[in-house]
Amino acid sequence: MNVRKRAAMVGLGHQATSDHLPGLAQCHLAELAAVCDVDAGRVDAVADAHRVPGFTDLEQLLEEARPDFVIVAVPHHVGQPIVSACAEAGVHVMKEKPFATDPHEAAELAALCDKAGIELMVTVQRRFHPVYPAALALLDRIGTPYLVEGRYTFHRPDPAAGWRGRAKLAGGGCLADMGYHLIDLLIWYLGLPDHILADTSTAAVPGAEYDAEDTALVHLAYDRGLYGSLLVSRSAGPKTERLAITGPHGTLAVERGTARLLDPGGQVIESLLREPAWPCPPAVQIDRFCRVLDGTAPNPSGPAEHLPHTAFLAAAYASAATNRPADPKEFLA
Ligand SMILES: NC(=O)c1ccc[n+]([C@@H]2O[C@H](COP(=O)([O-])OP(=O)(O)OC[C@H]3O[C@@H](n4cnc5c(N)ncnc54)[C@H](O)[C@@H]3O)[C@@H](O)[C@H]2O)c1
Repeated sequence: MNVRKRAAMVGLGHQATSDHLPGLAQCHLAELAAVCDVDAGRVDAVADAHRVPGFTDLEQLLEEARPDFVIVAVPHHVGQPIVSACAEAGVHVMKEKPFATDPHEAAELAALCDKAGIELMVTVQRRFHPVYPAALALLDRIGTPYLVEGRYTFHRPDPAAGWRGRAKLAGGGCLADMGYHLIDLLIWYLGLPDHILADTSTAAVPGAEYDAEDTALVHLAYDRGLYGSLLVSRSAGPKTERLAITGPHGTLAVERGTARLLDPGGQVIESLLREPAWPCPPAVQIDRFCRVLDGTAPNPSGPAEHLPHTAFLAAAYASAATNRPADPKEFLA
């Protein structure tokens, strides 16, 4: 008989209510066992709705509810103490991106997970969507890539709001937050760049007090002769999401849930389309994590895979602060 793993949800804000709690309801291998948030009102509402015990104190949850794993979806600056408490209790963690807010924190957390013998999987949902790994398999068809262009934009009416508007709390702005998905694709497909030159701005809401960039433009280059840029904005619509990689035989263009191979003139040679594009990514990720815990599937998004992401971000922010190029490898702790 298949015994479902017991999951606790920590952080009951937007991502938990829109993705993980509905996702858990669709899972085959896990079920919700407890919830936790520092906001008692949220705890009461969600615990009542799902008929599970609710906690405002994580350590109490770990002791009393004894989950098999915890799904962590909290403001970025509180990720570290929560992962540390789980590691201390020997409880596995599915962590909403980002893995960590800087390379030092990333290295510490990776070592902690290792020492505690817990699995940690970062939820970058494109890794678990069939089109994105399939697109990677098409990359050979364009020859040696020489150009990469990434763009991820949408419009938030108030990019300055809450913890996301404060660079210290969020570990950066749009680049560290939504941009993390684009950086993940870039590193997964092409590796960590050798040089980064970044510009960031907080100019979308004149007069508003915020220091976490709403827009970032990152030029990047690889010593092997590939170069390009990533543009990320949470203030400039319309919503776009695209990574295009060009080589002598054409372009691989990956958009939200689709991949197309174009000839050098821009004509579509073939395409991959999933319909619906995103049926149930949270449930897929949670079930996959259960299989990682059972030892029946590898973890494609563990701590080691995410050390380059924090190095990329640290290099981009260092470059933006100094107006000089930075080498992300120097930020690998
Ligand atoms: N994968 C994606 O596409 C995606 C999309 C949105 C958000 N996220 C990620 O999800 C996480 C949460 O984002 P969000 O939009 O839900 O934020 P949010 O502000 O809506 O919710 C955060 C919740 O965490 C709670 N919280 C704060 N400190 C806590 C603590 N110490 N212990 C327990 N709970 C605490 C807050 O009270 C709040 O309810 C972030 O890491 C974010 O990057 C991922």
